[in-house]
Amino acid sequence: MTDTTYDSKAITPNTLTKYLEFLRRNKIKVLSLLILIGVIPAIGYFAFIWSSSWRSNNITYQGDFNILHIPTLIDSKDQNLDEPIIISIDKTEHQFVDGIKSKTTGYNGSFLGPTIKLYKDQDTRIIFQNNLDEATNIHGHGLLVPGDVDGGPQLSIAPNGAWDVILPIKQEASTSWYHPHLMHSTAHQVHSGLAGSYWIEDENSQSLNLPNTYGVNDIPIFIQDRTFIDGRIVDYPKPMPSEGLLEDTFVINGTLNPQLNVPQGLIRLRLVNGANARSFEIYMDGNAPFTKIATEGGFLNSPVEINHIRMTPGERNEIVVDTSGLSNGESLDVFGKFLPDGYNEFEARYAPRGRMLRLVVDESIKVEKEPELRAKLNDIEYYNANDVVQKRAFTLEGRVINNVSMNMTRIDQRVKLGDLERWTIRSGGHSFHVHGASFQILKMGNGEPPPPEEAGWKDTIYPRGKAEVLIKFDYEATDEYPYMFHCHILEHEDMGMMGQFTVQE
Ligand code: C2O
Ligand code: CU
Ligand code: CU
Repeated sequence: MTDTTYDSKAITPNTLTKYLEFLRRNKIKVLSLLILIGVIPAIGYFAFIWSSSWRSNNITYQGDFNILHIPTLIDSKDQNLDEPIIISIDKTEHQFVDGIKSKTTGYNGSFLGPTIKLYKDQDTRIIFQNNLDEATNIHGHGLLVPGDVDGGPQLSIAPNGAWDVILPIKQEASTSWYHPHLMHSTAHQVHSGLAGSYWIEDENSQSLNLPNTYGVNDIPIFIQDRTFIDGRIVDYPKPMPSEGLLEDTFVINGTLNPQLNVPQGLIRLRLVNGANARSFEIYMDGNAPFTKIATEGGFLNSPVEINHIRMTPGERNEIVVDTSGLSNGESLDVFGKFLPDGYNEFEARYAPRGRMLRLVVDESIKVEKEPELRAKLNDIEYYNANDVVQKRAFTLEGRVINNVSMNMTRIDQRVKLGDLERWTIRSGGHSFHVHGASFQILKMGNGEPPPPEEAGWKDTIYPRGKAEVLIKFDYEATDEYPYMFHCHILEHEDMGMMGQFTVQE
């Protein structure tokens, strides 16, 4: 009996049993409530996922294969400064589909621009001639150069004007790029065709015996999305879409549905996400493994085998694929997926996808020297977080950073030349890019160190929550020509999701 009393005390209704009782009595009400708050959104969610996976059929352009356009190579090696490289910026027409003209702009051509090779410890002089009827400018994204030649929003090249610039290159070999960066004009100018690659070479890159025959086994892959109607590109919308312009068709180097004949062996692809707002996942047919050799600012210390890669606008990655197992005429398809906002894993599984590029083995193409993939590519000296002398935090939300919109007359941060700093970047669906330096990722996501394929020099990151990076600036940027930090969704940048900082003694 004593026991029973004791038991009955033990089962005195606590909060949980009260709830259970409530549920029993209100079965119908609770059920309908659950349906309301759970089932309906779930149906909506699955319908969304279903419709986006259904849409995936639309990614690949349903036309003939086109030969991948390889931009002209301009090699600045041993340039005499009296003979500058001339780049003219023109309104023109480009045929994405044979016989159908689209209105575009280009650098020395009809869409995008030449690949310009720069060399470490060499100055290169370039004259950009603006033949547009609007102002523009040119920023070297990834170039580690002083603020006055960085080409940020303070630089404006008027119509019929020119920018004569000497780029003092001091950084190691890497894949960078150039594009307009004028306040409020970046998104539509890039969209119309203004972008190109800067490839930096150094002694290391030339001695590694990596694939480096331009356009043969060392290939620029400029990834963008555009929309077409009857083979004609859809012009940049007005007003500017505030979420960022997301389109439905892959365009690689300005080519729709591209195919490229390549030799048997190692092929190096220099991937640039040059889209306005789209993040992509890149993978091979059948999820075949490939090798990543470089992040934005240079080579990784060693090659890393992976089977997919995610890239937000502005990011670059160098990868090597191996076609030696394929015989003449056989192909390797490179696929791309449209990543959802925040890279949501569940939605990413069902995200639209399609073939981005077909590589076809042609045994008759020979390269001078059989390339190789060595175990050691670089000697990155990792910063020590204990040496940090300054911390800064950036929060990207809505269309502002740290609660303020870009103001060209306001300097947001002042950095001391040569100081090691630790930057904390909080952001859900926004990327973060910084001018003037490459950084090393200390922590990302839930505080984990970066995986080996991200443990290299970077200048653009998709934090997905919180990222902590170590960064040190070695070049000067004054109040007159400060550096920028910003979201690289170009529409967000144009809407003011950007800030300015100086670097001085
Ligand atoms: Cu690619 Cu500040 O930009
Ligand atoms: Cu940049
Ligand atoms: Cu953004």
